[in-house]
Amino acid sequence: MALNYRDLGGDSTQRRIQKLKELHERASQGGGLEAIDKQHERRKLTARERLDLLLDIDSFQEVGKFVSSKSNPIPGDGVVTGFGTVNGQRIGVYSQDFTVMGGSLGRSHADKICKIQDACVAAGIPLIGINDSGGARIQEGVVSLGGYADIFYRNVLASGVIPQISAIMGPCAGGAVYSPALTDFVFMVRETSFMFLTGPDVIKEVLNEDVTFEELGGAITHNQKSGVAHMSAKNELECIQQIKRLLSFLPGNNLEDPPFLDIGDPVNRREEKLASMVPDDPNKPYDMKEVINLVVDRDSFFEIQPLYAPNMITAFARLGGHVIGIIANQPRELAGCLDINGSVKGARFIRFCDAFNIPIVTFQDVPGFLPGTNQEWLGIIKHGAKLLYAYCEATVPLLNVTTRKSYGGAYCVMSSKQVGGDWNLAWPTGEIAVMGAKGAVKIIKRKELAAAKNQKDKAELTKKLEDEYKADFLHPYLAAEVGYMDDIIDPRDTRPKLISGLEMLKNKSLQLPRRKHGNVPL
Ligand code: HXC
Repeated sequence: MALNYRDLGGDSTQRRIQKLKELHERASQGGGLEAIDKQHERRKLTARERLDLLLDIDSFQEVGKFVSSKSNPIPGDGVVTGFGTVNGQRIGVYSQDFTVMGGSLGRSHADKICKIQDACVAAGIPLIGINDSGGARIQEGVVSLGGYADIFYRNVLASGVIPQISAIMGPCAGGAVYSPALTDFVFMVRETSFMFLTGPDVIKEVLNEDVTFEELGGAITHNQKSGVAHMSAKNELECIQQIKRLLSFLPGNNLEDPPFLDIGDPVNRREEKLASMVPDDPNKPYDMKEVINLVVDRDSFFEIQPLYAPNMITAFARLGGHVIGIIANQPRELAGCLDINGSVKGARFIRFCDAFNIPIVTFQDVPGFLPGTNQEWLGIIKHGAKLLYAYCEATVPLLNVTTRKSYGGAYCVMSSKQVGGDWNLAWPTGEIAVMGAKGAVKIIKRKELAAAKNQKDKAELTKKLEDEYKADFLHPYLAAEVGYMDDIIDPRDTRPKLISGLEMLKNKSLQLPRRKHGNVPL
């Protein structure tokens, strides 16, 4: 509903205040009641309803409510922007209003978002973008493309300075997906949000492929297949709750520490169950998430990207009240091997934690990199190097618990002493070696095995040599002997040992050599 700004002067003060109230009320209606009904029919909330759910009551300070443009006289120009608090934490926010020209982005709309981006960086507070838009406003032509580019530029400059979070709560098409992709975390709602560069119609035309919006770019697709998104929610309320939970772990900016919160879980809590977590048979899986949950503060485990590369767990949690980022191998998936997706997922998470002063705790049980032509040809060397690079570059405290396997290159990569590990602990079940028994015996005892008289002798000899190798190498004491492990601990003591490490490393300060920037193997 357009506002008429004529005849607003010349009145008494009381009349002017009354008119202001009316203008506010009308501006708050966005595209009007009919459009709001349509939005609800699509099972979507309006831009303002979303803000009401996200922000603390009465905390919203709107900015630019009366901005409009030539292509769109409706005040606000299709986006609600401003500041507020979430559980007391200050944030900046923009929320696109699909009821106004489909939330499409024109010059004024973009300027409003840029203003909030700049203000968030200046104030050192996180930015949350709620996206629900038909993309570049067609009526404004290239000017709207310029608006997007202005936003992208600011996303990049703000990266690593303030946390940036994107909620996708409707369409997000064309180049518009690149602002969310440049932010730290992307949240999607199942069945009502989608992201893609080219839509189903174009795909049909160019490739003659049939694909639905949901299959092409829905929440599950991007959470499970592409890794573009980090979280999926069943509805918008759940999505906003997830964002609030994430915020509870984050500092306002890169110069602050993450928020400390003591929930009263004793720091010296020993966990009996941890003593029986690793099965006697080294080929049997167990659930690393169960291990983590027993160690961290009660109910503090918050997994990020749970559906993508589940062999690599990434999560936030608290230990003795301190926020930590967790990187963990999951023996239940691909035996915990490092593959391309897991490496990239882990690397990006480490870089986020490092940028925002969040110590990283690695739970390690990894037999190595996933073998195969598929992985090699898709570039596991390059992608695995990203994980290695991220650990090497991280200057936050790095803590490591090796619960079982730590073989070969995976030993080096995953927070080893040599790449910067500060507090490296192993359980007595740790197996820290170049490789497992089978592979090692085949290589180093090849001649002996070749000399066996028959298959039976060969099998017996193999078993004997493997047992010898296990006894000699598949334990953590050789690593401890050369100082690569700081301690071998009773698994039941993992929590107190990690917390004392965290306390010890609280003021860790490490400067990397000065340079413009490194060259991450992209
Ligand atoms: C102007 C737009 C618009 C746009 C939608 N609308 N997209 N107006 N520019 N890009 C308007 C519609 O005209 C309509 O207005 C209202 O928004 C609601 O749209 P509907 O089509 O009725 O809604 P729905 O059926 O839910 O479909 C939503 C949609 C569809 C899937 C988003 O509108 C659509 O395909 N829009 C175009 C998407 C697109 O191709 N955008 C450009 C991408 S390229 P009325 O008045 O009828 O209510 C891009 C470049 C970015 O964004 C470059 C960055 C580098």
